Amino acid sequence: MRTTVGIIGGGPAGLLLARLLHRAGVDCVVLECRTREHVEQRQRAGMLEQGTVDALREAGAADRLTAEGLVHQGIELRFDRERHHIDFPALTGGRTVTIYAQTEIVKDLVALQLADGPPLLFEAEALAIEKPESGSPVVRFLHEGREQTLACDWVVGCDGFHGISRDALPAGVGRSYAHDYPYSWLGILAEVPPSCEELIYARGERGFALHSMRSASVSRLYLQVPNGTDPDDWPDDRIWDELAARFAIDADWTLHRGPVTAKSVTTMRSYVHEPMRHGRLLLAGDAAHIVPPTGAKGLNLAVSDVRVLARALTELHRTGSTRLLDRYSEVCLQRVWQATRFSYDMTKMLHAQPNGDAFEHRMQLSRLRRITASRHAAAELAANYTGLPLGT
Ligand code: FAD
Ligand code: DHB
Repeated sequence: MRTTVGIIGGGPAGLLLARLLHRAGVDCVVLECRTREHVEQRQRAGMLEQGTVDALREAGAADRLTAEGLVHQGIELRFDRERHHIDFPALTGGRTVTIYAQTEIVKDLVALQLADGPPLLFEAEALAIEKPESGSPVVRFLHEGREQTLACDWVVGCDGFHGISRDALPAGVGRSYAHDYPYSWLGILAEVPPSCEELIYARGERGFALHSMRSASVSRLYLQVPNGTDPDDWPDDRIWDELAARFAIDADWTLHRGPVTAKSVTTMRSYVHEPMRHGRLLLAGDAAHIVPPTGAKGLNLAVSDVRVLARALTELHRTGSTRLLDRYSEVCLQRVWQATRFSYDMTKMLHAQPNGDAFEHRMQLSRLRRITASRHAAAELAANYTGLPLGT
């Protein structure tokens, strides 16, 4: 098989890139190692920046998002048994965010791709990327029980943090930066209407809790738990009791409980690989960088990478110029590092230290008090949360 752009990975980054390239007349092939059912059911992100919504519209993949997405005007911060509203439009000149699950974005993109898009192969596992420095890299992959090859002009690694693309970089090419956090998140999906109209980020001595949602009838909630936590040690009643304790305020508010339909533990890490290009191999999304989930930047960064990349590959296709492609890594990394900083700051500000450091606790409260007391500090949070500009 031969194509212009070989895309490894059919998550949000790979699928959206394929759509944007298809609309620009650039041919590509997507290789995804899992089944369609698996990628459509994998529970993950839910909060979309305005720029992510715009990118999905640009790709013609936003009909259901427009009809079903929940537009949010802000978030609530809870600490010291008080609640504080952060008003995004007022602080950012009108910006909002949208709640729409990653599973639904993937379903929408897969349906479009299978209807009229370039090839998307499920159960096609990339094994190796050969000659990324040459003018004609080749992806070796396993599909329908036999090894096959995809010859490309360019290969884009959209295969997530545990994919093969980053490992295809020769040893000594580039550098990575990493930070691990001493806690994890236990996430649940519950068949119960959300107990709030906007997301609640709660900091308390028992630890962090986040109330999010998927629809008017489905809630998504997260609890800070120690690393190594087994979800089976958390029966539903224990989860609801702990969530209720962490969200408690000195005002009338009730957490609605309901059947838990999914439960999983996620570890937290910041990781950035620089640069995001080597020869004709480009990395995008989680393949190049990951952030802890506090602040919801992972999916949004994956989308902004592929927006920059689609523009660059389209310019190359139309004019023969590699000007944008040559700046791909530099342009993306500016935004990646800003989102890495924001996610790190949000994580450190909202999670209880496992060793109960009293000084650190006071620092966290002072940061939160500053945000709720100063319009300038709140505007800084709102600008980062709703999404910084794409960069040029
Ligand atoms: P992935 O979604 O990981 O997709 C990579 C794809 O490549 C997968 O389908 C995989 O099967 C495939 N693949 C891997 N190896 C191979 C191979 N060898 N050959 C072929 N295919 C391969 N982000 C936000 O922006 N907002 C949020 O609210 C948010 N909440 C989150 C909550 C949780 C609990 C978690 C875990 C993450 C959250 N994120 C959030 C992060 C977000 O889900 C990821 O950043 C996003 O999935 C990255 O997309 P991607 O396409 O780069 O990678
Ligand atoms: C969601 C996840 C996050 O990490 C976050 O900060 C906000 C929302 C979610 O899954 O809905």
